[in-house]
Amino acid sequence: MLHVKNLTVQYSPADPLVLQDISFSLEPAERVALIGANGAGKSTLLLTLIGVIKPQGGAITLGGIPMNQERLRELRQLAGMVFQDPDNQLFMPTLVDDIGFGLRNYGFDEKTIEVRITAILAQLGISHLKNRLSHKLSGGEKRLAALAGVLVMEPSLLLLDEPSAFLDPRSRRTLISILAGLPQTMLVATHDLELARDLCPRTMLLKGGRVFAEGPTQDLLQDHTLLEHAGL
Ligand SMILES: Nc1ncnc2c1ncn2[C@@H]1O[C@H](COP(=O)(O)OP(=O)(O)O)[C@@H](O)[C@H]1O
Ligand SMILES: [Mg+2]
Repeated sequence: MLHVKNLTVQYSPADPLVLQDISFSLEPAERVALIGANGAGKSTLLLTLIGVIKPQGGAITLGGIPMNQERLRELRQLAGMVFQDPDNQLFMPTLVDDIGFGLRNYGFDEKTIEVRITAILAQLGISHLKNRLSHKLSGGEKRLAALAGVLVMEPSLLLLDEPSAFLDPRSRRTLISILAGLPQTMLVATHDLELARDLCPRTMLLKGGRVFAEGPTQDLLQDHTLLEHAGL
Protein backbone atom coordinates (compact mmCIF):
# COMPACT_ATOMS: atom_id res chain seq x y z
CA MET A 1 0.00 0.00 0.00
CA LEU A 2 3.06 2.25 0.34
CA HIS A 3 5.86 2.22 -2.20
CA VAL A 4 8.99 4.33 -1.76
CA LYS A 5 11.62 4.38 -4.48
CA ASN A 6 15.07 5.98 -4.41
CA LEU A 7 13.97 8.68 -1.99
CA THR A 8 16.46 11.48 -1.38
CA VAL A 9 15.98 14.32 1.10
CA GLN A 10 18.08 17.38 1.90
CA TYR A 11 17.02 20.16 4.28
CA SER A 12 18.89 22.83 2.32
CA PRO A 13 21.29 22.84 -0.62
CA ALA A 14 24.23 23.60 1.69
CA ASP A 15 23.46 20.61 3.96
CA PRO A 16 24.41 16.99 3.32
CA LEU A 17 21.71 14.55 2.20
CA VAL A 18 19.63 13.45 5.19
CA LEU A 19 18.02 10.53 3.37
CA GLN A 20 19.76 8.77 0.50
CA ASP A 21 18.34 6.31 -1.97
CA ILE A 22 15.67 4.90 0.36
CA SER A 23 13.50 2.20 -1.21
CA PHE A 24 10.95 -0.02 0.49
CA SER A 25 7.31 -1.09 0.40
CA LEU A 26 4.69 -1.76 3.04
CA GLU A 27 2.01 -4.36 2.47
CA PRO A 28 -1.53 -3.63 3.69
CA ALA A 29 -1.82 -4.18 7.48
CA GLU A 30 1.92 -4.73 7.79
CA ARG A 31 3.70 -3.24 10.83
CA VAL A 32 7.31 -2.26 10.36
CA ALA A 33 9.71 -0.80 12.92
CA LEU A 34 12.10 1.94 11.87
CA ILE A 35 15.17 1.91 14.07
CA GLY A 36 18.50 3.72 14.00
CA ALA A 37 20.72 5.98 16.11
CA ASN A 38 19.84 9.61 16.80
CA GLY A 39 20.08 11.60 13.59
CA ALA A 40 19.78 8.52 11.36
CA GLY A 41 16.82 10.12 9.57
CA LYS A 42 13.80 8.34 11.10
CA SER A 43 11.69 11.44 11.80
CA THR A 44 12.67 12.96 8.46
CA LEU A 45 11.46 9.85 6.65
CA LEU A 46 8.08 9.90 8.42
CA LEU A 47 7.63 13.63 7.73
CA THR A 48 8.47 13.06 4.07
CA LEU A 49 5.87 10.29 3.86
CA ILE A 50 3.10 12.65 5.00
CA GLY A 51 4.26 15.35 2.60
CA VAL A 52 5.54 17.81 5.22
CA ILE A 53 9.05 17.57 3.79
CA LYS A 54 9.45 17.72 0.03
CA PRO A 55 12.01 15.20 -1.25
CA GLN A 56 14.78 16.16 -3.69
CA GLY A 57 14.39 12.94 -5.59
CA GLY A 58 12.61 9.63 -5.77
CA ALA A 59 8.97 8.63 -5.74
CA ILE A 60 6.33 7.85 -3.12
CA THR A 61 3.07 6.09 -3.95
CA LEU A 62 0.42 5.67 -1.30
CA GLY A 63 -2.71 3.62 -1.92
CA GLY A 64 -1.98 3.83 -5.65
CA ILE A 65 -1.73 7.64 -5.56
CA PRO A 66 1.61 9.19 -6.51
CA MET A 67 2.67 11.86 -4.04
CA ASN A 68 2.71 15.36 -5.46
CA GLN A 69 1.47 18.81 -4.45
CA GLU A 70 -1.86 18.49 -6.28
CA ARG A 71 -2.90 15.36 -4.41
CA LEU A 72 -1.50 16.20 -0.99
CA ARG A 73 -4.90 16.77 0.63
CA GLU A 74 -6.10 13.35 -0.52
CA LEU A 75 -2.88 11.70 0.62
CA ARG A 76 -2.99 13.34 4.04
CA GLN A 77 -6.29 11.59 4.65
CA LEU A 78 -4.70 8.24 3.82
CA ALA A 79 -1.67 8.71 6.07
CA GLY A 80 -1.78 9.95 9.65
CA MET A 81 1.23 10.75 11.78
CA VAL A 82 1.52 10.82 15.56
CA PHE A 83 4.41 13.15 16.43
CA GLN A 84 7.05 12.38 19.00
CA ASP A 85 5.88 15.20 21.25
CA PRO A 86 2.09 15.20 21.73
CA ASP A 87 2.30 18.89 22.69
CA ASN A 88 3.03 19.55 19.00
CA GLN A 89 -0.18 17.77 18.08
CA LEU A 90 -2.69 18.94 20.67
CA PHE A 91 -3.45 22.62 20.34
CA MET A 92 -7.18 23.10 20.95
CA PRO A 93 -8.35 23.77 24.54
CA THR A 94 -10.28 20.54 25.11
CA LEU A 95 -9.70 17.03 23.92
CA VAL A 96 -13.00 16.85 22.05
CA ASP A 97 -12.16 20.01 20.05
CA ASP A 98 -8.73 18.68 19.29
CA ILE A 99 -9.92 15.29 18.07
CA GLY A 100 -12.65 16.88 15.96
CA PHE A 101 -10.33 19.46 14.38
CA GLY A 102 -9.16 17.36 11.43
CA LEU A 103 -12.69 16.19 10.61
CA ARG A 104 -14.04 19.79 10.69
CA ASN A 105 -11.15 20.85 8.49
CA TYR A 106 -12.18 18.19 5.97
CA GLY A 107 -15.80 19.35 6.07
CA PHE A 108 -17.45 16.41 7.85
CA ASP A 109 -20.90 17.16 9.30
CA GLU A 110 -21.27 17.61 13.07
CA LYS A 111 -23.29 14.41 13.52
CA THR A 112 -20.60 12.26 11.88
CA ILE A 113 -17.92 14.07 13.85
CA GLU A 114 -19.67 13.32 17.13
CA VAL A 115 -20.22 9.67 16.27
CA ARG A 116 -16.62 9.18 15.23
CA ILE A 117 -15.19 10.96 18.28
CA THR A 118 -17.33 8.92 20.66
CA ALA A 119 -16.25 5.69 18.96
CA ILE A 120 -12.53 6.48 18.93
CA LEU A 121 -12.47 7.60 22.57
CA ALA A 122 -14.18 4.36 23.59
CA GLN A 123 -11.80 2.28 21.46
CA LEU A 124 -8.77 3.87 23.16
CA GLY A 125 -10.38 3.70 26.62
CA ILE A 126 -10.28 7.48 27.17
CA SER A 127 -13.98 8.45 27.01
CA HIS A 128 -13.65 9.96 30.50
CA LEU A 129 -11.13 12.51 29.18
CA LYS A 130 -13.49 13.91 26.55
CA ASN A 131 -14.06 17.34 28.09
CA ARG A 132 -10.73 17.66 29.86
CA LEU A 133 -8.26 20.40 28.99
CA SER A 134 -5.61 18.98 26.64
CA HIS A 135 -2.66 20.70 28.31
CA LYS A 136 -3.60 19.28 31.72
CA LEU A 137 -3.49 15.62 30.66
CA SER A 138 -0.68 13.29 31.75
CA GLY A 139 1.99 12.19 29.26
CA GLY A 140 0.28 8.86 28.60
CA GLU A 141 -3.13 10.49 28.24
CA LYS A 142 -1.71 13.07 25.81
CA ARG A 143 -0.18 10.32 23.70
CA LEU A 144 -3.52 8.49 23.46
CA ALA A 145 -5.30 11.79 22.74
CA ALA A 146 -2.88 12.54 19.90
CA LEU A 147 -3.44 9.01 18.57
CA ALA A 148 -7.21 9.53 18.77
CA GLY A 149 -6.91 12.73 16.71
CA VAL A 150 -5.15 10.78 13.98
CA LEU A 151 -7.28 7.59 14.09
CA VAL A 152 -10.53 9.56 13.94
CA MET A 153 -9.58 10.46 10.34
CA GLU A 154 -9.56 6.71 9.59
CA PRO A 155 -6.17 6.67 7.86
CA SER A 156 -4.91 3.52 6.11
CA LEU A 157 -1.32 4.19 7.09
CA LEU A 158 -0.23 5.15 10.59
CA LEU A 159 3.17 6.75 11.09
CA LEU A 160 4.34 6.81 14.71
CA ASP A 161 7.40 8.72 15.89
CA GLU A 162 8.81 7.32 19.13
CA PRO A 163 5.37 6.34 20.47
CA SER A 164 6.67 4.99 23.78
CA ALA A 165 8.95 7.93 24.60
CA PHE A 166 8.34 9.45 28.05
CA LEU A 167 5.68 6.87 28.99
CA ASP A 168 5.68 5.05 32.31
CA PRO A 169 5.69 1.22 32.06
CA ARG A 170 1.92 0.92 32.50
CA SER A 171 1.01 3.58 29.89
CA ARG A 172 3.56 1.99 27.58
CA ARG A 173 1.91 -1.46 27.87
CA THR A 174 -1.51 0.09 27.31
CA LEU A 175 -0.31 1.88 24.20
CA ILE A 176 1.40 -1.21 22.76
CA SER A 177 -1.70 -3.37 23.25
CA ILE A 178 -3.90 -0.70 21.66
CA LEU A 179 -1.56 -0.40 18.66
CA ALA A 180 -1.40 -4.19 18.31
CA GLY A 181 -5.19 -4.27 17.94
CA LEU A 182 -5.42 -1.66 15.19
CA PRO A 183 -5.99 -2.67 11.57
CA GLN A 184 -3.78 0.05 10.06
CA THR A 185 -0.53 -0.43 8.19
CA MET A 186 2.15 1.03 10.48
CA LEU A 187 5.64 2.42 10.27
CA VAL A 188 6.96 2.93 13.79
CA ALA A 189 10.13 4.95 14.43
CA THR A 190 11.45 3.85 17.80
CA HIS A 191 14.41 3.49 20.12
CA ASP A 192 12.37 1.01 22.10
CA LEU A 193 13.63 -2.29 20.69
CA GLU A 194 11.25 -4.25 22.89
CA LEU A 195 8.33 -2.35 21.39
CA ALA A 196 9.72 -3.13 17.93
CA ARG A 197 9.86 -6.82 18.81
CA ASP A 198 6.38 -6.92 20.36
CA LEU A 199 4.60 -4.90 17.69
CA CYS A 200 6.46 -5.19 14.39
CA PRO A 201 7.31 -8.45 12.61
CA ARG A 202 9.63 -6.57 10.23
CA THR A 203 12.28 -3.94 10.94
CA MET A 204 14.17 -1.44 8.84
CA LEU A 205 17.45 -0.12 10.24
CA LEU A 206 18.62 3.31 9.12
CA LYS A 207 22.18 4.52 9.34
CA GLY A 208 23.30 7.90 8.07
CA GLY A 209 20.14 8.31 6.03
CA ARG A 210 20.40 4.97 4.25
CA VAL A 211 18.69 1.62 4.79
CA PHE A 212 21.50 -0.27 6.53
CA ALA A 213 19.58 -3.51 7.10
CA GLU A 214 16.05 -4.78 6.72
CA GLY A 215 14.34 -8.04 7.64
CA PRO A 216 12.47 -9.98 10.32
CA THR A 217 12.68 -8.05 13.62
CA GLN A 218 13.81 -11.16 15.53
CA ASP A 219 16.82 -11.62 13.23
CA LEU A 220 17.90 -7.97 13.29
CA LEU A 221 17.63 -7.61 17.04
CA GLN A 222 19.71 -10.76 17.59
CA ASP A 223 22.51 -9.44 15.42
CA HIS A 224 24.47 -7.47 18.00
CA THR A 225 27.35 -6.73 15.64
CA LEU A 226 24.91 -5.16 13.19
CA LEU A 227 23.22 -3.08 15.88
CA GLU A 228 26.58 -1.90 17.15
CA HIS A 229 27.66 -0.90 13.65
CA ALA A 230 24.47 1.14 13.39
CA GLY A 231 25.25 2.92 16.65
CA LEU A 232 22.57 1.17 18.71
N1 LIG B 1 14.77 21.03 10.21
C1 LIG B 1 16.00 20.55 9.98
N2 LIG B 1 16.93 21.30 9.31
C2 LIG B 1 18.17 20.82 9.07
N3 LIG B 1 18.59 19.59 9.43
C3 LIG B 1 17.73 18.81 10.10
C4 LIG B 1 16.39 19.25 10.42
N4 LIG B 1 15.76 18.26 11.08
C5 LIG B 1 16.65 17.25 11.19
N5 LIG B 1 17.83 17.59 10.60
C6 LIG B 1 19.03 16.72 10.49
O1 LIG B 1 18.67 15.57 9.75
C7 LIG B 1 19.30 14.41 10.29
C8 LIG B 1 18.24 13.38 10.60
O2 LIG B 1 17.42 13.85 11.67
P1 LIG B 1 16.11 13.08 12.15
O3 LIG B 1 15.32 12.74 10.96
O4 LIG B 1 15.49 13.91 13.19
O5 LIG B 1 16.75 11.75 12.76
P2 LIG B 1 16.16 10.73 13.84
O6 LIG B 1 14.68 10.94 13.92
O7 LIG B 1 16.56 9.39 13.31
O8 LIG B 1 16.86 11.04 15.12
C9 LIG B 1 20.10 14.88 11.49
O9 LIG B 1 21.44 15.05 11.08
C10 LIG B 1 19.47 16.19 11.85
O10 LIG B 1 20.41 17.04 12.44
MG1 LIG C 1 13.45 11.39 15.50
